[in-house]
Amino acid sequence: MTTLAPTVPLNDGRSIPQLGLGTWPLDDAQVEQVVVTATGLGYRHIDTAVKYGNERGVGAGIAASGIPRDELFITTKLDGGFQGEDRAIAGLEGSLERLGLDAVDLLLIHWPLPQRDEYVSTWRTFIRLQEQGLARSIGVSNFLPEHLDRLVAETGVTPAVNQIQINPYIVREEQRAANARLGIVTESWSPLAPGSDLLSDPRLAAIALEHGKTPGQVVLRWHSQQGLVAIPKSQSAERLAQNLDVFGFSLTAENLSTLAEFSEGPGAGVDSATGGH
Ligand SMILES: NC(=O)c1ccc[n+]([C@@H]2O[C@H](COP(=O)([O-])OP(=O)(O)OC[C@H]3O[C@@H](n4cnc5c(N)ncnc54)[C@H](OP(=O)(O)O)[C@@H]3O)[C@@H](O)[C@H]2O)c1
Repeated sequence: MTTLAPTVPLNDGRSIPQLGLGTWPLDDAQVEQVVVTATGLGYRHIDTAVKYGNERGVGAGIAASGIPRDELFITTKLDGGFQGEDRAIAGLEGSLERLGLDAVDLLLIHWPLPQRDEYVSTWRTFIRLQEQGLARSIGVSNFLPEHLDRLVAETGVTPAVNQIQINPYIVREEQRAANARLGIVTESWSPLAPGSDLLSDPRLAAIALEHGKTPGQVVLRWHSQQGLVAIPKSQSAERLAQNLDVFGFSLTAENLSTLAEFSEGPGAGVDSATGGH
């Protein structure tokens, strides 16, 4: 039996599955197999990017999955080199060709790159691409509140999603509040804080034991219980299944206050404005 994640409404009338499959740093061959496994388990939301170099493999996995296209939610992200009016059109056309799709469900500007100052003209192009039906929803990634305010002021169109680095160490309260003020759904990248000691922390192990879950499941529940969309990556069928099975239990107020102790405060994490590549 497959389990489907619940969905979260977007400000454009559509909705996004609250848990998706991260695909970085899988290559084409690896990601094809992982997409097939994940969709078989019930994943319906897949996150890729031009930068990951694996859109062909994601497309092959989608084709092999047997899941009807309209049941899937596919996100890709425009790479920095494609920012700008005409380049953004070419950027999406390349992604659609590699994915083998007529449209993506969500097209994101990968990083604001404010030093180039092309994110507003890119956004104007995204608005047209959405009107043409090539990107069903449009959004951004790694945008600070000042970047969002500028997009809205200059174009009148608010992004549906802002995908940013969030985990119990890096909570980004100010950015989440700005997203919420504008009606933007916050999506968490690196939700499990890979490369850190998070998943081996004894405080997390105690909460996991209390609920009969793994530390990773507790962290993913921490995201979903706060209304965040999360896109964990796993190459293991067992962990893919675990990561989707996080909607049948609730963290207590005490659990949440223990997890709040992990926060490293404002300023932790990748610098959203300059961390891009
Ligand atoms: N917008 C951006 O700028 C940006 C930046 C970075 C990432 N992303 C996106 O966000 C996705 C997720 O971020 P991420 O891949 O950096 O980090 P992540 O998904 O938080 O963590 C992935 C790591 O955790 C392991 N893992 C997965 N599930 C686990 C579990 N239940 N228990 C223990 N370990 C587990 C994985 O190993 P195994 O594979 O061995 O399970 C992998 O090493 C990426 O794949 C990408 O799609 C976006």
